[in-house]
Amino acid sequence: MAEEIVKTLNDFEMVAKRKICHENRWLWNYISAGDEKTRSEMRAAFQKYWLQPNVLTARVAVPSTWTTVLGQPIRMPICISPTSAPTLIDSPDGDALVAKVVAERGTLMVYSSVSKMNIEKFGSKLPPNGIYWAQTYLFRDKRNTLHLVRHAEKYGFKALVVTVDSPIDFGSNSVSVDDVPDYLPEHVTEDGSPNLAFLDGKPREKRPYGETELWTPFSGPGYKEIFCVSTWEDLAWLKTQTKLPIVLKGILTAKAAKLAVKAGVDGILVSSHGGRQLVGAPPPLAALPDVIEAVKGTNIEVYLDGEVRSGSDIFKAIALGARAVFIARPILWGLAVNQHQLMKLKPSRSGD
Ligand SMILES: Cc1cc2nc3c(=O)[nH]c(=O)nc-3n(C[C@H](O)[C@H](O)[C@H](O)COP(=O)(O)O)c2cc1C
Repeated sequence: MAEEIVKTLNDFEMVAKRKICHENRWLWNYISAGDEKTRSEMRAAFQKYWLQPNVLTARVAVPSTWTTVLGQPIRMPICISPTSAPTLIDSPDGDALVAKVVAERGTLMVYSSVSKMNIEKFGSKLPPNGIYWAQTYLFRDKRNTLHLVRHAEKYGFKALVVTVDSPIDFGSNSVSVDDVPDYLPEHVTEDGSPNLAFLDGKPREKRPYGETELWTPFSGPGYKEIFCVSTWEDLAWLKTQTKLPIVLKGILTAKAAKLAVKAGVDGILVSSHGGRQLVGAPPPLAALPDVIEAVKGTNIEVYLDGEVRSGSDIFKAIALGARAVFIARPILWGLAVNQHQLMKLKPSRSGD
């Protein structure tokens, strides 16, 4: 068979969809879940801006894409947002593969707290020259948050990314009917990821993951642990527990940005969780100027994710004040395209 030419991000998405759907339609639904209208508005927000060319400026210095995030140099302002999916697509070591590429490319990756590769395994394999931040939720059981924080400190993660945009489950709330993933990976719904040491207030029963893993409907103690109602007081508590810089992920309004300033965070990732949480949330790019204005006069760095799909999208976000952009789904498409044998997970009920 002729080699397929995969060049643009659209090609990557198309080929990834074909490969993943062939093996596991639940996985494709899970990756692409997100309210369609919210997602298309996120894309459209980029089209509302034009790039004004500068002419007759040939003598300007050679442009550089280097920048810094929280004081660490990165080769380009493109970083990787957290997702629970690299291990589902690639191999039990999927996150480690992304970490390796991040080090080679001189950029930064955010490790997801609900990865199936636990933070001990991920942290102990980190290449020395990449930059890694650890994402966490403010879990219902604070011992789970502390578990992640202590390991992030131990393995040299440079910051904590606290995701604050997931108070309720996305399955019933936001996803348009066609997009509802029937199942979530069992490690999220039942076990709440190997990183959660406590479920229902008790130590989590350890059991092996792998071939036995199922895709399960929304339920289970792990799910409840993640989707809980946390508050600014919980964030204040977290600040007392660690010296790591804190980046809040999921801020979309000036009001929340001002509260984040008061809370003493170091960074804000303007994000709507890829349209996977609140239907009708403003597109991150549209929210960015308000957030930038709200943090004016502080040292808080502002980043953006959500449907960033081209170089000109990146220019626009940076021109509006973002320090760097983050991408999520394109990384998953890349993993799938390069993968000969996709992970095979089974649904929990036959016939669905
Ligand atoms: C499959 C999948 C899993 C995700 N898991 C997480 C997560 O564990 N924590 C989190 O903060 N965001 C999570 N996200 C949201 C992404 O970090 C990101 O905010 C969003 O996908 C927007 O970026 P994109 O448009 O480039 O995909 C997930 C997104 C996807 C697609």
